Amino acid sequence: MAPASIGLSKQAREQTAKHLNNLLADEFVLLMKTWSCHWNLKGPNFISLHELLDEQYHALVDFVDDIAERVRALDCIALRSLHDCHEHTRLKELPSEGALPDEMGMIAGLLDDHETIIRELRTSHDNVEEYEHDVGSVSLMEDLIIKHEKMAWFLRAHLEK
Ligand SMILES: [Fe+2]
Repeated sequence: MAPASIGLSKQAREQTAKHLNNLLADEFVLLMKTWSCHWNLKGPNFISLHELLDEQYHALVDFVDDIAERVRALDCIALRSLHDCHEHTRLKELPSEGALPDEMGMIAGLLDDHETIIRELRTSHDNVEEYEHDVGSVSLMEDLIIKHEKMAWFLRAHLEK
């Protein structure tokens, strides 16, 4: 099959795909963590937090799919496995053993992850805009920054007294 001829060099497409695959790994880890908190949280705010996290993990499923499909639109390969996600993510998972954080600890941890992703997105956005000139990926990143900022606000509001 002919290589993609979309006005972006192979090098630019591959460089952008690296940024997107790192982001994909972060989103996948945050999806699992948000879903796990939705199941495992307990406390006086159970119903409202359970429902908030339900909305957020559904949004994260869409982000994962949009990012992976963007990598494919660049004619590059999207991450193939959970192993790849572990290799690429900048986030920390919930502990596999021992006590889980309490409900506000979970919300604070998720907020921290959204803020990490927002900062990483800004760096990737500026690099891809300046060096790769890939307007499609820049636009996707801008959209994701706005959506993560709103999700972060909803989490942060639960922590404010
Ligand atoms: Fe559920």
